[in-house]
Amino acid sequence: SPVELEQRIAEHVRDIPDYPKPGVVFKDITPLLADAATFATVVEALAAPFTTGAESGSEGTLAVPDVVVGIEARGFILAAPVAHALGAGFVPIRKQGKLPARTLSATYDLEYGSETMEMHADAFAPGARVLIVDDVLATGGTAAAAMDLVAKAGGTVHGLSFLLELGFLSGREQVPTARPHVLMTV
Ligand code: PRP
Repeated sequence: SPVELEQRIAEHVRDIPDYPKPGVVFKDITPLLADAATFATVVEALAAPFTTGAESGSEGTLAVPDVVVGIEARGFILAAPVAHALGAGFVPIRKQGKLPARTLSATYDLEYGSETMEMHADAFAPGARVLIVDDVLATGGTAAAAMDLVAKAGGTVHGLSFLLELGFLSGREQVPTARPHVLMTV
């Protein structure tokens, strides 16, 4: 059940106070990844609403995506197995300067300064159905940039799926056209 899943996630995510800077409580998912059963359950739950024939609450049935986009670095760890589980391709969104071929880029504001993310311009065919997967939805800047990149490449954002949502940062407001699937909100 969703409650049992949330309990399981809560037991395997640890809070690291004052990381990466004073006043921030970092959600460390490495214990969850290291636990085989919990890792498998989480990957399955991230993919579940996007599996043909699956019921996803009020949204009903959604078709399988063509590709799953994962966001460097922790997003890769979850997005690749989700892609495999769905029988979809995997496409990386990386920090600036890491991808070798022609890229599209999206820049967004951070608390101090800005960040640029890139995706290969030919990562998927125009019209592809794209699922975006990441570990955490925090301020939503990264997710909004990912949606922007998918749109620039001619794809259709089919869904967004996150392990954790930091509700107090209201990241959902940055992705108003999507209804993100989140396994747990803290
Ligand atoms: C974290 C997380 C998300 C993003 C969410 O990545 O993995 O991608 O921040 O934050 P936002 O909603 O406020 O944009 P981080 O930048 O720490 O990169 P990493 O995974 O490479 O450590």
